[in-house]
Amino acid sequence: MKPVKVGICGLGTVGSGTFNVLKRNAEEIARRAGRGIEVAQIAQRRPNPQCDTGSTPTTADVLAVADNPEIDVVVELIGGYTLARELVLRAIANGKHVVTANKALIAVHGNEIFARAREQGVIVAFEASVAGGIPVIKALREGLAANRINWVAGIINGTGNFILSEMREKGRTFPDVLAEAQALGYAEADPTFDVEGIDAAHKLTILASIAFGIPLQFDKAYTEGITRLTTADVGYAEALGYRIKHLGVARSTDQGIELRVHPTLIPADRLIANVNGVMNAVMVNGDAVGSTLFYGAGAGQEPTASAVVADLVDVVRAMTSDPENRVPHLAFQPDALSDHPVLPIEACESAYYLRIQAKDHPGVLAQVASILSARGINIESIMQKEAEEHDGLVPMILLTHRVTERHMVEAISALEALDDVVGDVVRIRVEHLN
Ligand code: HSE
Repeated sequence: MKPVKVGICGLGTVGSGTFNVLKRNAEEIARRAGRGIEVAQIAQRRPNPQCDTGSTPTTADVLAVADNPEIDVVVELIGGYTLARELVLRAIANGKHVVTANKALIAVHGNEIFARAREQGVIVAFEASVAGGIPVIKALREGLAANRINWVAGIINGTGNFILSEMREKGRTFPDVLAEAQALGYAEADPTFDVEGIDAAHKLTILASIAFGIPLQFDKAYTEGITRLTTADVGYAEALGYRIKHLGVARSTDQGIELRVHPTLIPADRLIANVNGVMNAVMVNGDAVGSTLFYGAGAGQEPTASAVVADLVDVVRAMTSDPENRVPHLAFQPDALSDHPVLPIEACESAYYLRIQAKDHPGVLAQVASILSARGINIESIMQKEAEEHDGLVPMILLTHRVTERHMVEAISALEALDDVVGDVVRIRVEHLN
């Protein structure tokens, strides 16, 4: 059988990794796919010295790949929303299948892209868009298809996890670690996407849609970054038996779907709390299977190429099948997607870590406890440190039981209004993941 012809658009870190893996493992891949996979064209702005593309035809114009009648599958690895969207829609309009690693594109424009793909009867595969080399989309969409998914929680940004791990283990500063992540090629072109949780929210949006069968709704995801975390809170969390991770949480409740990315205390004895460095991990809790954990490299040249090439193998296996009988893009049949709403953050529920800087007077603790109890907030534990030498203030650290965010916001305003409380109350959400 003739090989399937692929056009790779973008020959950066992932593009060159994809080319190299396809070449190195060509025989093994053909045995799996049932046909060879040949890179018939590459679009690149400039040559990549790390990738010997030999006699493969190249072009500087990505849209030429989408228009090339020889190409069966377009692999979009250029990133961003604008040109990538144009390229993918053009490829689909020309009847080509698409493989992409672009989480931003899928999270923001996925509904439109999948609708066009259905009209044309083509596949859009996007395993590499979430958690790099970890086949978590495949697992959620196919391996866990029997389940009602209760929640998904993941460390899905390697750069952020690397920063938090280095801060905790080595006491390194935030900018120092970020610079290293950039040099290692993990960080986004705009690293605020990593540290402000936008990249993780793109990925969480995709996971939530596949887990709960809802349209992609990135604009409703709540994001809070890690830039304001202090080593003091990292240390207090540790003393209480927790680790702080930048966690994406998608939870199905009767009222709606929680979709949120924020720093989170996780009990230190959970496996996911011990995922360090640039590694990613995703927990999925289903009603039949219970909790599962998927771990691996969430970025990097060949780990991400592993997912891109696996998608290519899937496309080759399915391209001759009846489009109606393929695995749906978002796991659920398109006419069976649910309109269960995504909840605003005020309606989400979690436990909390609070750090209050208080004057060292009798009765302060009683006032704090009274404000919390008036709003039905149950205190789980309290730790009070000695007064700080420089200002005489007492750090008071509380862990609460689960409460709706709205009630916690009210309580924090009341706490900050107390004469004996100085400055802002630090609030970090807590998830026990059990
Ligand atoms: N910037 C991302 C990360 C790359 O650090 O995880 C992979 O999506």
